[in-house]
Amino acid sequence: MDLGLKGKTALVTASSKGMGRACALGLAAEGARVVMCARTEADLQATADDVRARTGAEVLALPADVTRETDVKNLVARATERFGGVDILIANAGGPPRGNFDDVNDQQWIGAFEVSVLSVVRLIRAVLPSMRKKRWGRILTIQSVSVKQPVEGLLLSNAVRPGVAGMMKTMTPELGKDNITFNVLCPGRIMTERLLGGARQAGMPEKEYLEKVALDIPLLRVGTPEEFANVAVFLASERSSYVTGVALQIDGGVVRALL
Ligand SMILES: NC(=O)c1ccc[n+]([C@@H]2O[C@H](COP(=O)([O-])OP(=O)(O)OC[C@H]3O[C@@H](n4cnc5c(N)ncnc54)[C@H](OP(=O)(O)O)[C@@H]3O)[C@@H](O)[C@H]2O)c1
Repeated sequence: MDLGLKGKTALVTASSKGMGRACALGLAAEGARVVMCARTEADLQATADDVRARTGAEVLALPADVTRETDVKNLVARATERFGGVDILIANAGGPPRGNFDDVNDQQWIGAFEVSVLSVVRLIRAVLPSMRKKRWGRILTIQSVSVKQPVEGLLLSNAVRPGVAGMMKTMTPELGKDNITFNVLCPGRIMTERLLGGARQAGMPEKEYLEKVALDIPLLRVGTPEEFANVAVFLASERSSYVTGVALQIDGGVVRALL
């Protein structure tokens, strides 16, 4: 299937590692031009070089913190200057910290809103003008299965990420006339540095931790960033033209609910 991604410009935020990196690589491999960001410049430039070397794609990599409004504005302005606009947005960021009710203070609640919700709002606001002008756009955000069912010990994620899904669904009819689609990606357990951080927190060897985590997953293993990116790349493509307003889990079956 030709995904129709050649010549499109994709902005993938928080993309030096993990799922963001895999999405940038997957889109570049399909012929898209890719704009990448992360806060740590050395990691970002190394990943951008790797994406260029493996795909031959044009890559613009700019250090940016998506919780800072000026960084978001500058990122999209530079992407627009270089490539004439953004066709595809994959809004990703680091997640809010773990914790239960008694563990988190007001500042952490505000931080969770800023990292998971406000960053997406600002990114969408910045990319909409060029998408509206072209009457074509794909807006995706990487959230979590916590959109569908609460994850134990992740109060902040469980509380704020469903709000992003509510916003995305609300925008679907508003922007449908401009041919812009809105979909939420809900990863379960995906093999990234963040997931392996769980092994360190639990004080367990990685292998043992991954075996334990896998027991709750119908497919009996964690997913790879590439398996996640395959779904993201399809939803970012021309071929997903009639899919909007969906919150889709990529989780090996972890979410047990019917919808
Ligand atoms: N892995 C899982 O199993 C899983 C499951 C459910 C949900 N999630 C969520 O999915 C998202 C991606 O997770 P991941 O596992 O791919 O993470 P990861 O491997 O730890 O990578 C995180 C990436 O985000 C960048 N980043 C973090 N905060 C940023 C910020 N404020 N501005 C710009 N870049 C930022 C990091 O680079 P810098 O640190 O240099 O900025 C890095 O490139 C997170 O929100 C995570 O909570 C993950």
